[in-house]
Amino acid sequence: MTTFSFSTDAPSEVKAGVLILPVFQGPEFGPGVKETGLQQAYKDAKLTGKKGESLLVTKRNGDRFSAGAVLLHGVGERRTFDAAAMRKALGRVASSVGRFGHAATTFPQAVKGETGDLVQAAAEGLGLGAYRFDRYKSKNEQTSLKRVTLVGTGKADAKAGRQAARRAEVLVDAVSWARDLVNTPAGDLPPAALAWEAQKMAKAEGLTCKVWTEAELKKRGFGGILGVGQGSVNPPRLIELTYTGDGASTPIALTGKGIAFDSGGLSIKDAKGMETMKIDMGGAASILATMKAIARLKPKVNVVAAIPSAENMPGGAAQKPGDVIRHYGGTTSEVLNTDAEGRLILADALALLAEKKPACIIDTATLTGACMVALGTDITGAMGNDDALVDEIVKAGRATGDWIWPLPLHQEYRRLIDSNIADIKNIGDRWGGAITAAWFLAEFVGDVPWVHLDIAGPAFSEKGNDLGPKGATGVPVRALVRFVLDRAA
Ligand code: BES
Ligand code: MN
Ligand code: ZN
Repeated sequence: MTTFSFSTDAPSEVKAGVLILPVFQGPEFGPGVKETGLQQAYKDAKLTGKKGESLLVTKRNGDRFSAGAVLLHGVGERRTFDAAAMRKALGRVASSVGRFGHAATTFPQAVKGETGDLVQAAAEGLGLGAYRFDRYKSKNEQTSLKRVTLVGTGKADAKAGRQAARRAEVLVDAVSWARDLVNTPAGDLPPAALAWEAQKMAKAEGLTCKVWTEAELKKRGFGGILGVGQGSVNPPRLIELTYTGDGASTPIALTGKGIAFDSGGLSIKDAKGMETMKIDMGGAASILATMKAIARLKPKVNVVAAIPSAENMPGGAAQKPGDVIRHYGGTTSEVLNTDAEGRLILADALALLAEKKPACIIDTATLTGACMVALGTDITGAMGNDDALVDEIVKAGRATGDWIWPLPLHQEYRRLIDSNIADIKNIGDRWGGAITAAWFLAEFVGDVPWVHLDIAGPAFSEKGNDLGPKGATGVPVRALVRFVLDRAA
């Protein structure tokens, strides 16, 4: 785990393994560079502050700085350098400074804005960018960042700076946990193991946790979770978590798709399509991590989560195309394609949450390839029955850099999931698959304001990005936590 702190020490006095200082295009030296006396060295290296042009200087006798090394890092044009650009720039840097163990930076002083926001963005960049998943490597090749110090000016903003460092620490830890869960091979994380991870977290953080076993799910009629799970030797679970931060007020309700592995079931995927399907519990992981962060940040609001988990396998007892299942609450659905399984397990959880009459429901799911076609690999699709709620979540996304964009829940498409023999069927026709999937979910939320977040694209990065290596991204934990904190404020 990385720890974060805020300091108002003079840059040249900061004791860290590496001190990261910004240089704008020109070169125009950012906060702290002059004090280290390294301007000439940067110029002598023929560097101009272009994005990514950096110079690493290790400390020698007589140098005017206390850090073990100074990294003068080019960030490009000053006028386009905002908090989001800073988060990304430091994310890139973080992947190469792990060996120093302790990194410090004056970057928050280089951008206009509120100290808290800037310190948080800088800290998130360094923390998330340094993330590695090396549990399965027999030799640990890289050391990771243990400590990050955000260097600010003056005492006035010190309180905001300290709080922001703490917030970032909680968020980086939560996002990293979500990434770990998603990166873990499905063979090592069946539904019961995911539920066990949730219980351990809840105990450590002071949340209430109830895990529904297969027998209990049968008794209460969770036909969607059971139907999807029945083709696997690993039985399904439903994980219920409760956070009480505000007496008896109406809670925010959360759920996330927890398919431990999606083979497609009898409507089986091809080998390529299955390669990354351990990520199909990314929605569940994002909700678990959100609950962990909330438990630590303690906003004055109540939050309840119900997370369904099953493994979608084509075993001898698997559900068959054409089967009809009865969801929690009684709605029936015809399963024409067993690969459209996420909506089947979410339906049960949504019905359970709607029964609690919450203030709103948010679900996250790696639900459709169609959403990836629509929005690409970086953007979460948002659909819901309440425009104001969709706006609110889009704003939370923009504020945190977890990009979310609305897709229309077009009324005319509702009939595409009409079934001949049941209430609804689990696939539409060829087009608009992200929207017909959302219509399916909409059947189960009653009149509770609800938004569905399709994270099929951004849950996983094939190539790696500014804020982390190849693999799980932890999207949209930062947006969800922001949404909850904003609701509490
Ligand atoms: N888990 C997949 C969606 C997915 C695909 C997520 C690729 C991430 C990357 C989902 O269960 C699925 O198989 N969806 C089908 C639905 C179809 C059968 C209606 C899809 O999108 O093809
Ligand atoms: Mn599927
Ligand atoms: Zn799936």
